[in-house]
Amino acid sequence: MNRVHIKTYGCQMNERDSEAVAAMLRARGYRIVETEDECDILLLNTCSVRDAAEQKAIGKAGYSLHKKRHNPDFVLGILGCMAQNRGAELLDRLPDVDLIVGTQKFHRVPDYLDNLRAARSAGVPVGQAIIDTAEEAGSQNTIRDHVESAEPQVCAFVSIQQGCNMDCSFCIVPTTRGDERSRPMEDIVRECEEVVEKGAREVTLLGQIVTSYGRRDYPHTGNVTPFVQLLEKVNAIPKLERIRFTSPHPRGFREDLADAFRRLPKLGEYVHLPVQSGSDRILKAMRRPYSRERYLEIVRSLRAAQPGMAFSTDIIVGFPGETEEDFQQTVDLCRQVDFDMAYIFKYSVRSGTPAATLEGQVPDPVREERNRILLEELGKGSLRRAQSLVGTVQEVLVEGPDKTGERFMGRTRGNRATVFEAAPRLVGSLVQVEITRASVSTLYGNLVISGAGLQSPLGAASL
Ligand code: 5AD
Repeated sequence: MNRVHIKTYGCQMNERDSEAVAAMLRARGYRIVETEDECDILLLNTCSVRDAAEQKAIGKAGYSLHKKRHNPDFVLGILGCMAQNRGAELLDRLPDVDLIVGTQKFHRVPDYLDNLRAARSAGVPVGQAIIDTAEEAGSQNTIRDHVESAEPQVCAFVSIQQGCNMDCSFCIVPTTRGDERSRPMEDIVRECEEVVEKGAREVTLLGQIVTSYGRRDYPHTGNVTPFVQLLEKVNAIPKLERIRFTSPHPRGFREDLADAFRRLPKLGEYVHLPVQSGSDRILKAMRRPYSRERYLEIVRSLRAAQPGMAFSTDIIVGFPGETEEDFQQTVDLCRQVDFDMAYIFKYSVRSGTPAATLEGQVPDPVREERNRILLEELGKGSLRRAQSLVGTVQEVLVEGPDKTGERFMGRTRGNRATVFEAAPRLVGSLVQVEITRASVSTLYGNLVISGAGLQSPLGAASL
């Protein structure tokens, strides 16, 4: 009765937290299984950013509790943001849940499961759920153990910070993830070195607002923020080929960060830069501390540092009070920036946030329509940008087999997924790929054999 399946909803931070829980459980002798059907213990690591994400997890929990009818020992745990946000109240909807563990207590999951199992095998009747959503000082330092997977990962995720102190009026994250806390720089660098030692060639630094990293713990040195200092240190790790980070805040893009994209060769030409809206009026109501013009200025400064810079973003449509004109400003900003990709969210009321009580909530059909228009607009732009790469040669980090298993996939420096023929021994290395075809989401191409056609004594590298 020790087979665990973890289902993750939401962001990469949640993915990373689930990996860490899996690693801790493995170390305790639990088996992590790939499918829900095989498990005795189901853990849902949840998301609260939008109501739809919460409803999805609640639906899944309700459904899986049917398993208890056939198997009274089945354990269901709800972890992460929704557990933090709703706590014991979840029992009203899901009275048979066994475990509710918040975002600062992931590291306690193995103990709680051990306790539940011990109680059951001692014949103690299944009673109250274990609920732990307390805050814990230093919890940002507990998410560190990396998965000992059989397959070494080419792309690893390293958490650098937890929580967020911004007060964006739409956002539940400060409630679910708590105050901003950064991990010590040397711990992060050590973890990056460890994952590289295990085979990673790309590291993504994760946090809710990475550009604020360490701002209360480390001084700016020579006008360089602690976040850029961290990038410099990670950039110096031998054998590491690429660094990415998510999510930054536009407020953190000063000259030192734009300059980092000039100076640090491992930073790819790609930034995820959440804009949320292209209307100054709405940005203000969202309590986002920048203007449309400032955002465009950041984009220009990054393209001045790296002309090929690709951007992705988050946009909320139908924020309370958003008029047709505000929305058109967002459409217009998207045209000006020419995003490679965007996550578009229909505004979702999160109770307890300041925006929940604002006047002028936008009717659902209007949100739906704006979502559709923007998706179409962004899809066109993204395809155009992808097609502009046809005929170019891109540096690709080979990650592994593609979905079909017939070819290989990797990403360009600008973060475009690319599919091509290669050989297994190239996994984890940088190759040159000539792009021959492009769809919105994928580039296709052929390996360029270095030295091919040259009369070099080294000859052409073979596959
Ligand atoms: N409604 C819709 N989208 C939201 N996001 C955050 N809160 C909400 C909300 N209440 C989006 C933002 C954020 C992304 C992670 O989720 O765009 O950047």
